Amino acid sequence: MKIFLDTANLESIRKFNDMGLLDGITTNPSLMFKEGGNPKDAMEEITKIIKGDVSLEVVSTEYSGMMEEGKRLRQYGENVVVKVPMTPDGLKACKSFSSEGIPVNVTLIFSANQALLAAKAGAKYVSPFIGRLDDIGQDGMKLIEDIRKIFDHKHYEIKTQILVASVRHPVHVVDAAKIGADVVTLPPAVLDKMMLHPLTKIGLDNFLADWDKLKSGNPDIQI
Ligand code: G3P
Repeated sequence: MKIFLDTANLESIRKFNDMGLLDGITTNPSLMFKEGGNPKDAMEEITKIIKGDVSLEVVSTEYSGMMEEGKRLRQYGENVVVKVPMTPDGLKACKSFSSEGIPVNVTLIFSANQALLAAKAGAKYVSPFIGRLDDIGQDGMKLIEDIRKIFDHKHYEIKTQILVASVRHPVHVVDAAKIGADVVTLPPAVLDKMMLHPLTKIGLDNFLADWDKLKSGNPDIQI
């Protein structure tokens, strides 16, 4: 399963990229707003740092505006995936971009039917928002299961990848991986939490305490 970071924060992107953890980035207008400043600078920098797919989202709601914006967004780099909303105009733009070989991420997916239509329109990625479904008392992960089942059906040849979005905690990640989601996009805080386990910390503290004891009897010892 690929891991994308769901942020426009350059510090976090650099931090996790230096650990070799990032296969790509997803952004949206809210994440851009959160960082402040001119989103152009962030988009330029992100597409320089990350070699994998970088989803940049259009803000037009009608077809021709989406097409114009998508083409402008693609100028930031060959790795830019144009992110469009799951609307009739978004699907039309998805069809046009994908016919031109431009990859598309269809976002704000909340049902298997929406995922099916986005795949049909040629999306490279569909982004089901699982946390927001959980928030309203629906089972977000069940949607991932349903989409996986449909996309893998032996009678179809769907190449569209399931990009699990609106991830809120590490259990979401394990569950998405067990289902066989293609990608999860994670807020930096979730990726931070995935690295931690209390026994790792206790174990390391004990190793270092024992090493200090060993050294106290033999000050010249070193690794
Ligand atoms: O990738 C979509 C994501 O940014 C939405 O997450 O937490 O606002 O539901 P959230």
